[in-house]
Amino acid sequence: MTLPVVADATYVILGASGNTGSIVANFLLSKGEKVRVVGRDAGRLQRFVDKGAEAFTADLSDAAALSKAFSGARAAYLLLPPVKTREAQERESDAIAKAVNQSGLRYAVNLSSYGAQVPEGTGPVAGLHSAEEKLNAIGGLNVLHLRAAYFMENNLAAIGMIHGMGIFGNALLPDVKLPMIATRDVGDYAAQRLLHLDFSGEQTRELLGERDLSMTEATAVIGRGIGKPDLEYKQFSYDQVEQALTQMGVPPKGAALYIEMYKAINAGVLAPLEPRSSENTTPTSFERFVQDVFAVAYPGKVPNA
Ligand SMILES: NC(=O)c1ccc[n+]([C@@H]2O[C@H](COP(=O)([O-])OP(=O)(O)OC[C@H]3O[C@@H](n4cnc5c(N)ncnc54)[C@H](OP(=O)(O)O)[C@@H]3O)[C@@H](O)[C@H]2O)c1
Repeated sequence: MTLPVVADATYVILGASGNTGSIVANFLLSKGEKVRVVGRDAGRLQRFVDKGAEAFTADLSDAAALSKAFSGARAAYLLLPPVKTREAQERESDAIAKAVNQSGLRYAVNLSSYGAQVPEGTGPVAGLHSAEEKLNAIGGLNVLHLRAAYFMENNLAAIGMIHGMGIFGNALLPDVKLPMIATRDVGDYAAQRLLHLDFSGEQTRELLGERDLSMTEATAVIGRGIGKPDLEYKQFSYDQVEQALTQMGVPPKGAALYIEMYKAINAGVLAPLEPRSSENTTPTSFERFVQDVFAVAYPGKVPNA
């Protein structure tokens, strides 16, 4: 069943309480746009309601609820939540695509990842490949897939290790360079494209951050930013990282997906398609991220003024 399309100027933002969705919602609200924020918890959406947004509680695996959320909207910001399993990703992308189709939505900016051109073997990114394909199959939808780099915020997960053990480590090779982006740059970019709706058909845009960094380089910047200039990067084995993830509460299937992603990055399978350019480079440097976000979150570190 296709719901009737009603002319409406509302923007629908999935994941509005999260890193990127909150930037998109706040930007559009600051421009005086009508915004409907979607999440599972009304309390987490209240700060947007206070600024004039409409809150809509829905789970991203509930196609019927999402159809109502999208109904008549001008455009939407789409994302998949952080991965639990590939099956859950498929359920969520099925529900989102079904709801987009049924509601007759015309414009969507979809958060994807660099490497989403690869159909499998890339962990959570393979789920984003699949989500892109499902959206591309919807007739009449103009969709812009933002293939964002590795989030700088991923490094925040190491705060406990740095604080407790005095080292920074994960499964990535120390010297492999990867693009890293601040989530605020993803949100800013998505918000601009949603405001202008200057895309048509199916398009992709890689967003590669300010520059590529190796984990060794990133660790040096973090060390300087938190007053530990001797901080070193240590590459752990895949088994050690998988075990650590499950100990942190990540379900075993989810942990296995992250290991698959690390392997794909180390092997150069998960990599950008485009050469770096002014179009895919974004402003926030890793140094700026460390100063504004990492050092502020680091226990006992007084952020620089
Ligand atoms: N990490 C990376 O390096 C990277 C790189 C490229 C792309 N990505 C993509 O970015 C996504 C995360 O984006 P983000 O950082 O902006 O989000 P985030 O901060 O992780 O927040 C996730 C948002 O999704 C909502 N959510 C979670 N589960 C939900 C569910 N079942 N139903 C409805 N809403 C749900 C949460 O809201 P409530 O909890 O309030 O419901 C929250 O607003 C990842 O899932 C991945 O697809 C990640």
